[in-house]
Amino acid sequence: MPSTIAIVGTGYVGLTTGVGLAHLGHTVICADVDADKINELRAGRIPIREAGLPELLSDALADQRLSFVLGSEHAVAEADIVFLCLPTPQATNGEPEMGYVLAAAETIGPLLRPGTIVVNKSTVPIGASQMVATALGRADVSVVSNPEFLREGTAVSDFLNPQRIIVGGDDPIANQRVADLYQAFTCPVLMTDAASAEACKYASNAFLAMKLSFVNTMAAICESYGADIDAVTAGMGHDARIGPDFLQPGPGWGGSCFPKDTQALISLANQQGIDFALLRAAVDANQQQFDRVTDKVGSVVDLAGATVAVLGLTFKAGTDDTRDSPALEIVKRLTARGATVRAHDPALTTAPNGIELHDDVFAAAQGCDAVVIATEWPEYAKLDLSRLAEVVNQRHLIDTRNLLAYSDAEQHGFTYQNIGRS
Ligand SMILES: NC(=O)c1ccc[n+]([C@@H]2O[C@H](COP(=O)([O-])OP(=O)(O)OC[C@H]3O[C@@H](n4cnc5c(N)ncnc54)[C@H](O)[C@@H]3O)[C@@H](O)[C@H]2O)c1
Repeated sequence: MPSTIAIVGTGYVGLTTGVGLAHLGHTVICADVDADKINELRAGRIPIREAGLPELLSDALADQRLSFVLGSEHAVAEADIVFLCLPTPQATNGEPEMGYVLAAAETIGPLLRPGTIVVNKSTVPIGASQMVATALGRADVSVVSNPEFLREGTAVSDFLNPQRIIVGGDDPIANQRVADLYQAFTCPVLMTDAASAEACKYASNAFLAMKLSFVNTMAAICESYGADIDAVTAGMGHDARIGPDFLQPGPGWGGSCFPKDTQALISLANQQGIDFALLRAAVDANQQQFDRVTDKVGSVVDLAGATVAVLGLTFKAGTDDTRDSPALEIVKRLTARGATVRAHDPALTTAPNGIELHDDVFAAAQGCDAVVIATEWPEYAKLDLSRLAEVVNQRHLIDTRNLLAYSDAEQHGFTYQNIGRS
C-alpha cells in the first residue's frame, strides 16, 4: 500500500531514497535546509551527478508523487514514515557526530502524528536509535534503523536492485511497515534489533575498507617480487569464500563513508575497551598507499619544483563527490613535497582546496613533468597518448587505476607505473 513519506536531508542518500520511493509509488516530500538545493530540485534540476536520477526525478515530478520543501518542519506533519538522511561526519575525537540527526529529531518530534515511524538511514553509532527516540520525545512514535548501502555513482541502480535490506527496531509492526515499502524488490529483507542493524552498516564498510587495504598492500608486494596483482586477485576470487568483488587495487580508499565509518568503528570499539587493531592497520595501510603513490611520482621526477597533472579528483568515477577523495590526499602530498598540481575532472567545474582545474585533459597536462591518473573515469582509459606525449614536458605516467597498458604507454615514450601489475 502506498505510504506518505517525508525525507529529512536531501543529499546523496536522501535524494536517491526520496526519488526511488516515489518511483515505487509512494508520495514523498523531501526537506532540506539548503534553499539553493530545494529551488534547483523544484525546478527539476539535480544538484549532484548520479546516473538515472534526472529521469526518475522528472517522472516523479510529472506524476506529482514528489515535492521539495525548505525545512523539515514543513515536511513531516502528514507523513506516515519519516526518513532521517542527515550527515553524520567524523567529530574531532573520531566519533560520529550525531548533532544533525538529533537536532532534526528534536525539531520534528512535536510535529509528528501519533503512530508515525521515524526511520534512521544515516550511518549512526550503535545505540543511536535510542538517542533519536529520546530526541523525538514521543512515546507514540517508533524508531526503526534502516541503514543505507548504496554506492555513489550507481546509487539509483543500487536503490532499485538492493542486495539486501536491513530493518532493525523493537516494534515488529513498525519494522514490517518499513519492510513493506520495499516489497517490489526480491532481495532478502533482514529483520533485526536496532543495534544489530546499526552495527551491520559499520561492519560492512569496515570490512570493505580492510579488503581494499589488503589488496593494495598485496599489490605492493607483487611489485617488489615481480608478481602480477591481477593474476593474484583472479586466483583469490575463484575461492568462493573470498569472492571476486572489491579486489581492485587503487590509489587508496576514500569518499564520504569509508574514512569516517572506519574511524567510528575503531572509536566505538575503544569505548568498550576493545582495540580493533585489524581495522587500525587497514587505516594505516591506506595512508601508506597514498604515500606509495606519491613516491611513485617522486621516483621519476624531483617533486620540488615539478608540475604534475592529476587526472580525476572525485573519489571514484560516476560521481561529483570529492569528500575525502584519495586524489586529494595525493595532491596534498605532492604539493607538500613542492610540486605544482594541475588537475582535470570530467564531473567538476570547480576544484576543492584551490586546486588549479582545467576543463580539458591536455590543457591540464600541458608542460607537466608527470601525469597521475587518480580516478577511474572511462575517458582516461581511452586517453590519446600521442597527443598527451606532445603536450607534456616529461613523459611519465602513474596510473593508479590500472586503466592503461604498459605497451601503449611505452610505445609513446612514457615511463609507466601502475598498482601491482607486472
Ligand atoms: N553518500 C553515500 O554514499 C552514503 C551511503 C550510505 C550511507 N550514507 C550515510 O547517509 C547519511 C547522509 O549522507 P549523504 O552523503 O547523503 O550526506 P549529504 O551531505 O549529501 O546530505 C545531507 C543533507 O542533509 C541536509 N541537512 C542538514 N541538516 C538538515 C536539517 N536539519 N534538516 C534538513 N536537512 C538537513 C544537508 O543540507 C544535506 O543536503 C550519512 O550518515 C552517511 O554516512 C551515505
